[in-house]
Amino acid sequence: MRFGGLTAVRSVDFTVNSGEIVGLIGPNGAGKTTFFNCLTGLYVPTEGTVAYQGKVLPPKPHLVTQAGIARTFQNIRLFANMTVLENVLVGRHTRTKEGLWSALLRGPGFRKAERDSEARAMELLEFVGLAGKREHLARNLPYGEQRKLEIARALASEPGLLLLDEPTAGMNPQETRATEELVFAIRDKGIAVLVIEHDMRFIFNLCDRVAVLVQGEKLIEGTSEVVQADERVVAAYLGEPFEGEPGAAEAAEVEAAEAGATRAEGRETAEAEAERPETAEAEAAGSADSTEGEAQ
Ligand SMILES: Nc1ncnc2c1ncn2[C@@H]1O[C@H](COP(=O)(O)OP(=O)(O)O)[C@@H](O)[C@H]1O
Ligand SMILES: [Mg+2]
Repeated sequence: MRFGGLTAVRSVDFTVNSGEIVGLIGPNGAGKTTFFNCLTGLYVPTEGTVAYQGKVLPPKPHLVTQAGIARTFQNIRLFANMTVLENVLVGRHTRTKEGLWSALLRGPGFRKAERDSEARAMELLEFVGLAGKREHLARNLPYGEQRKLEIARALASEPGLLLLDEPTAGMNPQETRATEELVFAIRDKGIAVLVIEHDMRFIFNLCDRVAVLVQGEKLIEGTSEVVQADERVVAAYLGEPFEGEPGAAEAAEVEAAEAGATRAEGRETAEAEAERPETAEAEAAGSADSTEGEAQ
């Protein structure tokens, strides 16, 4: 995929098998999101094709969804002023047969389809743990729940393959752990998952296979063990704010607080810092530093 003179993704051969959770990692700007955009028809690849279940997909988002591939976005895309339930119902529309006239005339067929859709949407909300918030406006959900809602909406199109673009970005460690469980549960429903994430602990816990993208090219692909042990993978991340160690997610917050406060005051332990009221400020400053260049 080229944008003018920039080749964002080059010759990436990649297969996801049914029943698999596959991770896609790489430094910022490596081309991960662009790769998703090519898969889902948002971008028309300059070269190459995307095939699903043996059939080449036309680069049209609605046809890709219909074929059975659904996704979430790195920058959450919900209908902010619709309710939680309505957002999931929107995700279902590619799967309902009832057409425009049926909807306008609101005949018995439409009402039955509507009831079925709603029942299915509620099942999905229960599955992701948002059933109690069906009438809340999407914009009023906390960040972590908006990410869950995006997943429910993606599942509403009844995909065989789900693409998740940084599903735990901005989540705290508990929410991240819950998302891990959710992805396992999705896999257990028979849906293949391809997930982009910077949280290496999350990725290596979760994935059967991991591919590393660097400057638009696939550096390596293999099991978590193989990829984790590869020196080039570590090298690829050097110079990045290093989130690339198992446990980094939890450690990052503490480190950020320490970085500011310890230097100034010579204090040693994170626990001591955590009890101090002014730590919040130090932490905010610290984490802003450590994520420099990450925001997209
Ligand atoms: N629509 C676009 N137009 C021009 N350049 C783009 C576009 N989308 C992405 N890029 C560029 O492609 C490269 C890969 O970006 P992206 O796929 O977002 O990386 P990642 O998701 O791995 O952080 C970056 O250099 C980015 O600036
Ligand atoms: Mg991205």
